[in-house]
Amino acid sequence: MNMPLPHAPLQHLDQRLSSASNITPHIRITPQSAHIGALISGVNLKQALSAAEVHTIRSALLRWKVIFFRDQHLSHEQQIAFSRQFGELTPGHPVFGHVEGFPELYSIAKHRKANRHSGQAEQRPWTGWHADVTAAHNPPAASILRGVTIPPYGGDTQWTNLAAAYEALSKPLQAFLQGLRGEHRFSAPQGATASQEYLDLVRDNTLISEHPLVTLHPETGEKVLYISPGFLKSIVELSTRESRVLLELLWEHAVSSEFTVRFKWEPGSLAFWDNRSTAHVAPQDIFALEFDRQLYRTTLVGEVPRGADGRASTAIQGNPVLAAHGAAY
Ligand code: SIN
Repeated sequence: MNMPLPHAPLQHLDQRLSSASNITPHIRITPQSAHIGALISGVNLKQALSAAEVHTIRSALLRWKVIFFRDQHLSHEQQIAFSRQFGELTPGHPVFGHVEGFPELYSIAKHRKANRHSGQAEQRPWTGWHADVTAAHNPPAASILRGVTIPPYGGDTQWTNLAAAYEALSKPLQAFLQGLRGEHRFSAPQGATASQEYLDLVRDNTLISEHPLVTLHPETGEKVLYISPGFLKSIVELSTRESRVLLELLWEHAVSSEFTVRFKWEPGSLAFWDNRSTAHVAPQDIFALEFDRQLYRTTLVGEVPRGADGRASTAIQGNPVLAAHGAAY
């Protein structure tokens, strides 16, 4: 993607977005909360975008971390073609596979394989929150999720801005966190009983990586509290108890409502998020409702994260997530 911005990241991101918007006045960008989320209208995602449109959409993504579109009704082919304008695509999912005939597409169905663990996982405010596949050495840079079958009520997704969460910490805690690293693992949720199919898939595709606890965003220069609750298991340098207590404090802080936005899906909606500066949570209320829910996701290949201290992440187990080779659309 593009070069990092030098100083005062938010100011630069605002300037970049404002000059991009000047050359694409037909694209409307409407922020949805103080720190995260913008609704974008005035652009047809079924068609190839101009370079200026790609620049404006990317600028809005970097500034607002997750952007939303409505009434787009893309086909699988159109979602893949739209996504490719922003980078190379990964295989649908490194553990759970892809939609048949579409190597870059992952099906987010109500009863998908990734949900096949039963029993009660311990419910905490951060339960279920995650950034996509941070157990990989190079987690996806961004994810694009398209709503197809949407319940009449329930089924909202929430995102949080992990750069804003970092900024809101006290300076001494920020300084302490900058030297630390976390171990991210793909494993069944604690306290839940997983199906044999789920356990086999996770065992055969184990991913473990060590990432900095504070990353430097490669495009915006922002410091990010890189603490994907679903994958981050421990802080490497601390004792077990120190690590657990500190992570719980950070997770609880990161999912505070002030850093979040909540999106109500409609058929034809699309959410596009920066996976390097956000975490999100899939809805749980759909399991109390009889309605179906079906979405499809593409993810952009990401780089190996780097810490605010300059050190890169290290791979412990598993392969990097490389580009998928699907058909041209
Ligand atoms: C995801 O975790 O990528 C899916 C979110 C959702 O189902 O709303």
